[in-house]
Formats: sequence, structure tokens, C-alpha cells
Amino acid sequence: MNDINNRFVDKGFIDLPVASDIDLVKEIARLKKEKNAIILAHYYQENEVQDIADFLGDSLALSQVAQKNDADIIVFAGVHFMAESAKILSPHKKVLIPDLNAGCSLANSCPPDAFKEFVEAHPDHVVVTYVNTSAAIKALSDITCTSTNAVDVINSIPADKPIIFAPDRNLGNYLQRVSGRSNMLIWDGACHVHEEFSLEGILALKKENPDALVIAHPECKKPVLLISDFVGSTAALLKFTTTNESQKFIVATEFGILHQMQKESPNKTFIPAPPKDSTCGCNECSFMRLITLKKIYNTLLYEWPEVNVDADIIAKAVKPIQRMLDLSK
Ligand code: 13P
Ligand code: SF4
Repeated sequence: MNDINNRFVDKGFIDLPVASDIDLVKEIARLKKEKNAIILAHYYQENEVQDIADFLGDSLALSQVAQKNDADIIVFAGVHFMAESAKILSPHKKVLIPDLNAGCSLANSCPPDAFKEFVEAHPDHVVVTYVNTSAAIKALSDITCTSTNAVDVINSIPADKPIIFAPDRNLGNYLQRVSGRSNMLIWDGACHVHEEFSLEGILALKKENPDALVIAHPECKKPVLLISDFVGSTAALLKFTTTNESQKFIVATEFGILHQMQKESPNKTFIPAPPKDSTCGCNECSFMRLITLKKIYNTLLYEWPEVNVDADIIAKAVKPIQRMLDLSK
């Protein structure tokens, strides 16, 4: 194990060849059983990774599963902040991420030192942070939220209490609009995937497909949200496409979710909203896409890279996450 650590620590993942005659799907299933491990995958993973997951979900659902399962090992097919949350919620389990480079541009836009200064400058504010942050930021928070429960979290705070919301400016502005609050200080961070949708491209697609509904994640910029027929978290968008009678949707969120949308509604048409300066194509999260079947296999085999969080950070960060989970029961 130490040899693996030493050899691959700089790369952040195990770059060992896998024999070409190995059936990765079968071998992953065998290792999972042998080691009592489970794979949690986010909807933005590659299709083949989504298809082998024990649990597939959005950020909220995955946190809930991370807390309540009997596995000894959790392999997180997602990004680093999600694996950290799993470790915070299940500190006695081994949490593995197949590639340590799977970060998040949104989490990176909120560095702990600068955020601590900001929080200390506004001591009367309730600190609400989106789960797309590092464990250190969660440790500075009063309550976390995901895009699924963000409106409920904001509405749970007395109207006269000022709020700091971090790190996503688009979600923060959206929450301010739907809650009607004016007392929110919003951190200036953003996700490189959701900010990049082309308003012109979406409008052009809508012109070509007047029967399609535009649906968008609240991390998208305001103009995209304003022309959307429905705004919601990844899970809410998926549910909307199964329950709404429309047969066609233009989807403004990470491309990975279209796999489940198509699986759940095989006869409907899903068109990805195009990236900046384009009228076709899709937006993918480069961090999410670092996870592959081969890396999952090697991670299970060698039980590395492991995600650990300092005990004092866990003690502080678990409180705001637990408050959110209690509110989302
Ligand atoms: P949700 O899973 O809460 O929709 O979050 C979207 C996202 O960007 C995850 O990284
Ligand atoms: Fe982070 Fe955006 Fe990727 Fe989600 S889609 S992991 S918010 S960079």
C-alpha cells in the first residue's frame, strides 16, 4: 500500500495498466463484494460509471446514503467535496475517490482564509453554504444546503436575520429572487460548467424546437434562468422530465444527467443546451469526467486514494451538514 502511495501520490490516481482481457464491470462487482464496498455516483459521471453505481443521485441524495449504509468502504464516483462530505458523515468508514484531481471550480472559488475573514467581518449573519465547498468552509458554516433543499434552508432562517450565502453567486441570486429576501450577502463564486451556457444558443434551439421546454439548474446565469420554463436541482430536473407531459426538453445542466433522463423517458427527446459561443454541443464537468471504470477498479483493488479529514474539522463540519439533513427528512 505504501508503495502505491509513494509511486502515485503526485499523479493523484493509480496509473497501473489493467490486463486487456479483464472484464472491469465483473471485477469491480467481485471486489465490492469481497471488501463490503459500495459505489456512490453523481448524475454527472460518465454513463458507464452511472450504470455500475450502487446508488446514483444528486448531492443531497448521495449525502443521505453516505450516512446510512452498512458498507466498510465507500468509493465516491464524484468530486472531492462530495467524498469529504461522506467522510464527515461516516468518519469510521474508509472513503476512496478514484482520482484526487476530481476537484470543483465552484469549491475552489471559496478559499478558507478569505472566507473566514469575510465571516468574521459579519458576525451577525447566519452562514449558509452550498455543499460544493471544502470541509474547511463547512466548518465555518451554520448550515449547508444543496440545490435540492436550498429554498427550504433559506426559508428556515427568520426573515429579519441577515445571511451570508456562499459560494455560488447564481444560486445565491436565484434564492434571493424566489425568497424575496434583501438581506443576503452573496459570495462571488461560480461553476465553470453552468456559467458557460449560451443564451443565444438556447434561444436558437428553442426557435428550431418550439415544442421543447427549457429546463435549467439554478447554478446557471440569470438570463438563462429567466427564459427557462423550469428551474431546479439535478434531481428536480430529472423528475420534471418524467412527470411533465412535454415530449422535448432543452436541458441546461451538466450533460451526464441526460443519460438518466433518456433511460427514464426513452420516448422523449432531450437536447443539451449548447456551450458559450455555440449553437450545438454540450457542457461537461471536466472534474467529474476524470473518474473512469479503470480508476474505480484500481482504487478498489489497492484501496487508494483515500479521503481523510482532520478530526477537529469533522467535529465542526458535521453540525451544519446534519442541520441540513434534519431539515430535509
Ligand atoms: P446537485 O447535485 O445538487 O444538483 O449539484 C449540482 C452540481 O453541480 C454538483 O456538482
Ligand atoms: Fe463543481 Fe460545477 Fe463540476 Fe459541479 S459541475 S463539480 S459545481 S465544477
